Amino acid sequence: MGEVDAAFIQATEHRPKLAVVEADGIPLIDLSILNSPDSPEPNTTVVRPLITEIGEACKNWGFFQVINHGVPFKRRKSLEIAARKFFALWKEEKEKVRRDEVNPLGYYDTEHTKNVRDWKEVFDFTIQNPTLLPASLEPDDKEVRECINQWPENPPELREECEHYAEEVQKLAYKLLELISLSLDLPANRLSGFFKDQTSFIRLNHYPPCPVPHLALGVGRHKDAGALTILAQDDVGGLEVKRKTDGEWIRVKPTHDAYIINVGDIIQVWSNDRYESVEHRAAVNCKKDRISIPFFFNPAHYTNVKPLEELTDDQNLAKYKPYNWGKFFATRKRSNFQKLNVENIQI
Ligand code: SIN
Ligand code: FE2
Repeated sequence: MGEVDAAFIQATEHRPKLAVVEADGIPLIDLSILNSPDSPEPNTTVVRPLITEIGEACKNWGFFQVINHGVPFKRRKSLEIAARKFFALWKEEKEKVRRDEVNPLGYYDTEHTKNVRDWKEVFDFTIQNPTLLPASLEPDDKEVRECINQWPENPPELREECEHYAEEVQKLAYKLLELISLSLDLPANRLSGFFKDQTSFIRLNHYPPCPVPHLALGVGRHKDAGALTILAQDDVGGLEVKRKTDGEWIRVKPTHDAYIINVGDIIQVWSNDRYESVEHRAAVNCKKDRISIPFFFNPAHYTNVKPLEELTDDQNLAKYKPYNWGKFFATRKRSNFQKLNVENIQI
């Protein structure tokens, strides 16, 4: 095991296979029809095949990739370059924006997933607008602190790159939300209201080369707690998705300028299990640094998450108790960032 701290070592059954399974991967979906100059409304018949494709992907995999999505490649690339510059700084420099109990956003390298340390370092920033919070809140209140980004001095362009990227990726998030609503036979705008005061955030992940890639993981197996995740991965690759049919871990091969989309626990609850939030993890390698950038699309903190009435009836009873998203997320964070499984709230 050499120099590697035992905290990083996965139990035998959770170690990544070095021989990557080359299987039919997650569906690759072309969104170009939405970006044509005379772009059709999402509920027109020309968009129907696309909606069906998205619905099938959500049902069968919980994951898909999109191309021709409308997010300018330049925005993503320049954020990736700025992120690499940040992670290349001396540790002391990065520590100046370290996340702690007072500042829940910023830099950290001590994340554990299911009690095993992840082989990664991370910078988190939110796109929440603090002016939308109730005026009665004090500066010290958790909701306020969760809105305050910590920006490093270096690289000086990081903040601007983050903000520009967030603007673009959000547009894609809303488009996908409409398509997913339609695929559930709901009106296109059925879910967007939950995101008016969204608590979305973006994570810059850096996975350094690892001397024991067969024993450790960049991120251990987990499901995403939010509504939808939109992930940019560089050309190194490492994301693995648990295939629903047989539980096999399938590597997602990087596709140039594609985004990897997955439904999170909230969509699982809203859809009353028509779509499931699927386990995934990130493998590391001993040669190359890897960068990935997830956008976690999350509703307002006051959202009461529960199965949508339209998707439940006497034959199909609600499978989840309502829960408050803000409280759920805060507890998850405060309890040493451990993930509560959606099963924990299942009736
Ligand atoms: C994550 O799921 O948290 C990150 C996955 C990745 O880096 O590919
Ligand atoms: Fe994830």
